[in-house]
Amino acid sequence: MTTTVDDNARLESRSGKFFARYYDAMTQRAEEKWGRPLRTLMFGELTGRVLEVGAGSGANLPYYAKADSLVAVEPASEMRKKLVRRAEDVPLDVQVVDARAERLPLPDDAFDTVVCTLVLCTVTDLPAALDEIRRVLRPSGQLVFFEHVRSPGAVGLVQDVLAPLWRRAAGGCHANRRLLTAFRDAGYQVRIHEVVRPWPRYPTNTPYVRGTAVPLPRPATRD
Ligand SMILES: C[S@@+](CC[C@H](N)C(=O)[O-])C[C@H]1O[C@@H](n2cnc3c(N)ncnc32)[C@H](O)[C@@H]1O
Repeated sequence: MTTTVDDNARLESRSGKFFARYYDAMTQRAEEKWGRPLRTLMFGELTGRVLEVGAGSGANLPYYAKADSLVAVEPASEMRKKLVRRAEDVPLDVQVVDARAERLPLPDDAFDTVVCTLVLCTVTDLPAALDEIRRVLRPSGQLVFFEHVRSPGAVGLVQDVLAPLWRRAAGGCHANRRLLTAFRDAGYQVRIHEVVRPWPRYPTNTPYVRGTAVPLPRPATRD
């Protein structure tokens, strides 16, 4: 695992706290336009035990209409405060946990579904995070995601150039992450349900992909 003290310090730095404090205000317009219908579609029918990784201020919480319980993991203290407040307002058993995707303090095979929205662009060690998610998912479980990925064509090249600057400006977000390749490398089978290019379109965050990733069984090891 390559998570460093610096990564934790980034979330708790002045700019990290600023990002957390104003995140809801910054995303309000997008949320009203396409976030809410999308979250309703993605989470309204989920049942069983759900884990949300990088739950932020809890934007998804009101949409888990049928889930039995939710564990919401969030490492940034400022975001977590909002998450705890929002958890009090939903009719769902919610446990908020201070942890990072790369090291989940949760048992094996514990969840039917893991949810990631707008977070896998930010985790520092993506392969470690995907391994951890596989570990905590029960064998027939699924990862449900909505994430932005590196664009094909010229926009992807622009993202490569902007990525270092954007990472500093936007709370550690990687503008050019090849997420679908990372899923496959980590042994997941990916189903893409929708590719979204919302307007206004920022070169750092397009396209978005809504999909599911199912861990494939690991090949049996011989003694
Ligand atoms: C852009 S916000 C998205 C929040 C929420 N999922 C949503 O859809 O609104 C990204 C969140 O990921 C969290 N995060 C950053 N690094 C993380 C990590 N290594 N593991 C888990 N969450 C992380 C941030 O603190 C932040 O709350």
